[in-house]
Amino acid sequence: MRQEARTINAQEIKKDFPLLQRKFYDKQLVYLDSASTTQKPSVVIESLKEFYEKYNANVHRGIYKLSEEATQLYESAREKIAKFVGARPEELIFAKSCTEAINLLAYSLELKEGDEILISEMEHHSNFVPWQQIAKEKKAKLRFVKVDEEGKLDLESLKAQLNEKTKIVSITHVSNVLGTINPIKEIADIVHKNSSAVFIVDAAQSVGHMKINVKDLDADFLAFSGHKMLGPVGIGCLYGKAELLQKMKPFLYGGDMIKEVTFEKTEFNDLPWKFEAGTQPIAEAIALAKAIEYLEQIEMDTVEEHDRILTQYALEKLRELGAKIYGPNERAPVISFNLEGIHSHDIATILDGEAIAVRGGHHCCMPLMSVLGISGAARVSFYIYNTKEDVDALIEGIKKVKKVFE
Ligand SMILES: Cc1ncc(COP(=O)(O)O)c(C=O)c1O
Repeated sequence: MRQEARTINAQEIKKDFPLLQRKFYDKQLVYLDSASTTQKPSVVIESLKEFYEKYNANVHRGIYKLSEEATQLYESAREKIAKFVGARPEELIFAKSCTEAINLLAYSLELKEGDEILISEMEHHSNFVPWQQIAKEKKAKLRFVKVDEEGKLDLESLKAQLNEKTKIVSITHVSNVLGTINPIKEIADIVHKNSSAVFIVDAAQSVGHMKINVKDLDADFLAFSGHKMLGPVGIGCLYGKAELLQKMKPFLYGGDMIKEVTFEKTEFNDLPWKFEAGTQPIAEAIALAKAIEYLEQIEMDTVEEHDRILTQYALEKLRELGAKIYGPNERAPVISFNLEGIHSHDIATILDGEAIAVRGGHHCCMPLMSVLGISGAARVSFYIYNTKEDVDALIEGIKKVKKVFE
């Protein structure tokens, strides 16, 4: 990987990703679905292989050297990942995904009848359905911050809905449909000044794309997934303020999350292990730390700038083709759009014929789709390995889509 100051040589970076060398229908793959999951560099793939070839043993249990080595790698990975988001290791809990991390909160932050939960209209189902279900179970009330015409959160609507009953506010950092980057620090300030609620950030679409510091954002909790930031599937993370995590009940019960078990009772383990019952995704945690090392070599400011340049380029080209684009102009590298009279699945299918991978549909945001008054949209999303040539290929592909429907 060669790197020049402040700019990414995406063409060179692509070479680090074996999957991006694949062809479909004799055409080079153009992968434009990183918001769904990112591709993995060789260092991450090798890390998984190396773990199973050299270090595979269960952690925290064995007295023997091999288990000690596995434990050391696992806990060092935690340190690395925690530091990456500005947290302390004991505040960083491993889960299977961002979804699982949010479910942990929905169950462990004990709500009672009459409590209020505030989310927004732009939430992914992962930060929507757990709250909807727990609200139903506990007879709590679920409320929604409005999204304005531009696709931004209406902060007046946020303020107006906060009261002494609000116990949880859970908002996405970046919308996986609109690309909107929500002003998390400002939102945290509003929430903390106007309620005693805990503030949760769904950072699934942001941690791999920009510099994040949980203390600076003043988030009480922040959840993200490894597979959306070059890491493997099966590892997610939950940051939580230690004083809050300490007060919460565990999510899952079993081995490793205990200090002592008798026939009568169980004393739970210290943080973070209190929330890590059973055998965890050890190799995946270690590989996620490798993904972070890879990102750090590039530097997050550079990643963000690359995202920005590519997204602005694509927005301009898509507008020239008359696409209806959802969300604000300044955004993360996610663009959802429609072409008049053409279903998003048809767009995705025809582009697939050109070996261009894009998503079509509701993007796990059905409530937002109803706010936008659409059933779905085509979505392209970019990452460090995407080039302007990829965008040009997309644009040529869309011209073909339009021709088919002429
Ligand atoms: C904003 C947002 N939140 C949460 C998730 C859920 O992530 P995962 O499926 O890795 O749990 C996604 C996935 O697309 C997302 O985009």
